[in-house]
Amino acid sequence: MSILLLLAMFLWSQSEGALLRKTNLTIYFQDRFAGPNATTVPITGIPGHLWTYGSFGTVFCIDSPITEGLEGSSEQLARGHGVHVTSALDGSITYVSISIVFITKESNGSTIQIQGATNQYVKVRELAVVGGTGQFRYARGFATFETAYLDMESAYAVIQCNITMFHF
Ligand SMILES: *[C@@H]1O[C@H](CO)[C@@H](O)[C@H](O)[C@H]1NC(C)=O
Ligand SMILES: *[C@@H]1O[C@H](CO)[C@@H](O)[C@H](O)[C@H]1NC(C)=O
Ligand SMILES: *[C@@H]1O[C@H](CO)[C@@H](O)[C@H](O)[C@H]1NC(C)=O
Ligand SMILES: *[C@@H]1O[C@H](CO)[C@@H](O)[C@H](O)[C@H]1NC(C)=O
Repeated sequence: MSILLLLAMFLWSQSEGALLRKTNLTIYFQDRFAGPNATTVPITGIPGHLWTYGSFGTVFCIDSPITEGLEGSSEQLARGHGVHVTSALDGSITYVSISIVFITKESNGSTIQIQGATNQYVKVRELAVVGGTGQFRYARGFATFETAYLDMESAYAVIQCNITMFHF
């Protein structure tokens, strides 16, 4: 490759880099994992096995409201659309692919893509921010997930999600 081309590529990536902004977000996934209003539902698994969080091969589909605060009644900012799969033979690891799709006036339709494998039984789970669209084009960073509220009886959990990312 010619030195000029290398230089041009370097300058290009420098100018792109200069435009990247850093954003920190704290948002809350409102998850209902059973009952008529479930937002996380097992859709398939290994035939003859239980389709549960701890069972290898179980695929869950998600469409959870995402709010500004811990309370379900706080302002809804987005929805989490995606899937996660129990992908360790011993049931410990879940592989996640979720798009956070914003519905607020300022960010309507913009998305952040969250992806990765994490031990679902640890307190703080970390996943990668691998991309975005709209306001969050070229998003890259990481997201932590921590259960902030859990009521087994009503199958309701609130997950606090902190996102740190660079984007345009
Ligand atoms: C954003 O989050 C990162 C990682 O948790 C932290 O190091 C940084 O101090 C935060 N920045 C602000 C402005 O809160
Ligand atoms: C499910 O949602 C409907 C409509 O919002 C509501 O009337 C009903 O009480 C909910 N059921 C449960 C078990 O939460
Ligand atoms: C977001 O966009 C959809 C159409 O893409 C529209 O129906 C909806 O009203 C918009 N919401 C806001 C808050 O602007
Ligand atoms: C997430 O951010 C909140 C404040 O916005 C903070 O209290 C909490 O400790 C953070 N969680 C993690 C795992 O960094």
